[in-house]
Amino acid sequence: MKLPLLVLAGCLAAVPALAKDNFVLEDEVALCTGCHGEDGVPVATDYPIIAGQQYFYIFTQLRDFGAGRRENETMTPIAAEYDRDQAKEIAQYFADKPWPDVPGSSQEGDRQLAEKAMTAAECSACHGKWQGDSRIPRLAGQQVDYLATTMLDFKSKTRKNAPDMSNLMADVSDDEIHALARYLSTVVIH
Ligand code: HEC
Ligand code: HEC
Repeated sequence: MKLPLLVLAGCLAAVPALAKDNFVLEDEVALCTGCHGEDGVPVATDYPIIAGQQYFYIFTQLRDFGAGRRENETMTPIAAEYDRDQAKEIAQYFADKPWPDVPGSSQEGDRQLAEKAMTAAECSACHGKWQGDSRIPRLAGQQVDYLATTMLDFKSKTRKNAPDMSNLMADVSDDEIHALARYLSTVVIH
């Protein structure tokens, strides 16, 4: 009878912490905006914009960080503190904000190189015009260094929470990834 108990304990340990005590939405989001930006513009170019991001995508990422499916030394311990309902409240708060206007930066030739990779990998089949939809994140106007880092993380499988994206990035060269990141940072949604 001892084995099932141990197995059960192992399963419980893999589940994110129960719930953060004394949860007050305003206090939690103040923590987030210290990095992700009070006005929606993150304080560093390798921090992602989350204001105006898709609700379900934000929620999924918080759950993935919390459960260790997506690992990051900053985000994992933060997200692990919230239960589902708390993560939902936080996701809704940011999803309801307007997406900030951050000027992207691209170089000559980026568009051609990016389009070559986008055609080969059929990005638009899932990402449409980069506006995002539910589980699909908005990428138009996202932070340039964040985009490059996360695509390289998919490729090296440092980011493991979306195996489809990792398989796809395996065939995209690093030069194409950097061109894609710069190009996407300049895409505007009308
Ligand atoms: C100390 C800085 C810092 C704080 C505080 C912080 N974040 Fe983050 N956040 C980051 C960094 C850096 C990344 C990129 C991590 C990666 O690439 O894996 C990130 C990634 C994310 C992502 C993934 C975005 C995407 O496009 O995939 C979400 C969602 C997120 N953070 C939400 C939050 C929320 C909600 C809070 C507050 C509860 C918060 N963050 C607090 C630095 C921070
Ligand atoms: C089969 C569908 C599919 C295709 C094709 C696809 N993606 Fe994705 N992509 C996704 C999904 C789903 C996610 C969200 C993964 C998650 O939940 O972590 C994602 C996430 C991303 C992210 C992370 C965004 C963030 O905020 O962290 C980037 C960047 C990205 N895709 C770029 C691309 C590019 C560039 C292409 C084409 C070269 C492409 N994707 C093709 C489905 C796809």
